[in-house]
Amino acid sequence: MKKPIFKEFDGYNGIVEEIETSRKYGTDYAVYRDSVDKQINLLHPSRMKLHISEIIDETSSTKTLRLVSQDGYLPPFLAGQYIALFLELSGIRTSRPYTISSPPNQTGFYEITIRRVEDGLVSNYLLDEVKKGDGLESSGPAGQFYHNPLFHDRTMVCIAGGSGITPFRSMIREIVECGLERAIYIFYGNKNLNDAIFHDELRSLSDRFENINYLPVIEEPQEGYEGPTGFITGDLIREIIGEPAEKTFYLCGPQGMYDFCVPELERLGIPKRKIRKDVYGAPAHICDYPGWPEEIKADEVFAVKVDGGPTIEARAGEPLMLALEKKGMKISSLCRSGECSKCRVKILSGKVFQPAWVPVRKSDRQFGYVHSCVSFPVADLEILL
Ligand code: FES
Repeated sequence: MKKPIFKEFDGYNGIVEEIETSRKYGTDYAVYRDSVDKQINLLHPSRMKLHISEIIDETSSTKTLRLVSQDGYLPPFLAGQYIALFLELSGIRTSRPYTISSPPNQTGFYEITIRRVEDGLVSNYLLDEVKKGDGLESSGPAGQFYHNPLFHDRTMVCIAGGSGITPFRSMIREIVECGLERAIYIFYGNKNLNDAIFHDELRSLSDRFENINYLPVIEEPQEGYEGPTGFITGDLIREIIGEPAEKTFYLCGPQGMYDFCVPELERLGIPKRKIRKDVYGAPAHICDYPGWPEEIKADEVFAVKVDGGPTIEARAGEPLMLALEKKGMKISSLCRSGECSKCRVKILSGKVFQPAWVPVRKSDRQFGYVHSCVSFPVADLEILL
């Protein structure tokens, strides 16, 4: 019955003819799908077996783990990307993303740099318990925080806080080791100079290469310190970089740094599209966020019914994903920051709070999906994993 209607359309005969020609002489690419998938999985594996070949002390609270592949192959990555480590600790299956701090031209190993986090289950384990030779399981490289020569300016202005220096160390090393035609300014904020990871290395590169400009900014300087102090303000940035036009701005650090620095950049007239922010985990103090329901305290506990079966308890102040993991539930994850969408769950009833910056797709909003890594329960919930 339908064919006669299609025939009414202009070009119907031409399309039928083309389909016939394709069938007769063309290639059916669908038959190659499996072999293409196999090749892609080989080059970009979703899981990798690594082991620790070296542990390097950086600061009193930071170490770098050098990781080599157990099967001799490490996929390529872009400076700024991360891998997620998958671990089982105290009966909890969990994951953590760590930016690769070594440059992509170093193909024999990845380095990840870990700073101690207060009560950090994974960071404390990696800093205190792992040793040379231990095995680790990880994802392949992932993430959107990198320099794209097609869209981004050749001059990069980078603002880092604490362990947020790691992607920039990778980028800087790539620039100097590969002789890339790119200039980089790096403003690196820390409480005191002893906390500045890679300080000597970055200072030395800055002294040797004209296109590398490294500037530590110290909040609580010790006596005799002569560099810039306080926060990384728009005025300081303007003074060092000159005219902000034709420069792309990259930020990596704690949320508080974004809350302060982004308005400072906007005050300089820098358009939003020129400001790129790396993901940096779920907010530690969600109750301080704009829009958080004041009457709900971080320790308030809500019941979460999962897949119509067991009901678990989840604290308002911690991400829903963490509550699920603590009960031994398996949930996909990579970034744990709202970027990759791996951890989406469907909310059947109840309500969660997600910070405004979480990029939720329109269709997810429409059908009730949330990123569980950055969603905090504010009512009893029924969810589907
Ligand atoms: S793990 Fe990436 S969005 Fe949640």
